Amino acid sequence: MKAVIFDLDGVITDTAEYHFLAWRHIVEQIGIPFDRSVNESLKGISREKSLENILIRSGAEAKYTNAEKQDLLHEKNKYYQTLISKLTPEDLLPGIGRLLCELKGEKIKIGLASSSRNAPEVLKRLEIINDFHAIVDPTALANGKPDPEIFLTAAVLLGVSPADCAAIEDAEAGIAAIKSAGMFAVGVGHEQSMHDADLIVRQTCDLSFDVLNEEWKSYRINIVQK
Ligand code: BG6
Ligand code: MG
Repeated sequence: MKAVIFDLDGVITDTAEYHFLAWRHIVEQIGIPFDRSVNESLKGISREKSLENILIRSGAEAKYTNAEKQDLLHEKNKYYQTLISKLTPEDLLPGIGRLLCELKGEKIKIGLASSSRNAPEVLKRLEIINDFHAIVDPTALANGKPDPEIFLTAAVLLGVSPADCAAIEDAEAGIAAIKSAGMFAVGVGHEQSMHDADLIVRQTCDLSFDVLNEEWKSYRINIVQK
């Protein structure tokens, strides 16, 4: 294991909840019902694609012009940015600060593969941006998760082969992207949405260098034996 690539929202900090609150605020204003199960299917998905999915689900896609959709996207992001403006280092999810320290101590490269254009701002507010050797710019990609492009790009930027990377995600689309990239997939959350992951932990505080490294070793042995 030469590199660990992190998703951001819902892995490093609980901004997955902020995306939920921002979408709910915008979508309910236009009379579309929105709950956590709809939100679950949007995790890891770009802002534009998320709105498209929300409108398609409620049969409202044709009701809005492109300009109106742009306004909704702008409003969602404005609301989201108000929420993240209050983030501090205290908002790191449990165990993440410790894990970053352990990885640095082990000279493991650290990358970020987040679909969020707000990711650099979030990392700055959490005061961990300097811990990352590479941060993928999602606007430079042709395809979003579940396509592997974002994880493969992170590996290129880190100068590490995908087979030597582990990646951590909280979304089904993210786990699919990691597996398609040929990496060791770590899922944070409930087993049902993380079933394709190579290692599942319930919470971020269960993550540590030792846990990742041990599971990584058995995973590699299994691959070699196959
Ligand atoms: C992902 C989130 O990390 O980023 C999605 O899981 C979000 O919920 C996406 O839609 C895009 O984020 P942003 O900040 O560019 O709107
Ligand atoms: Mg996420």
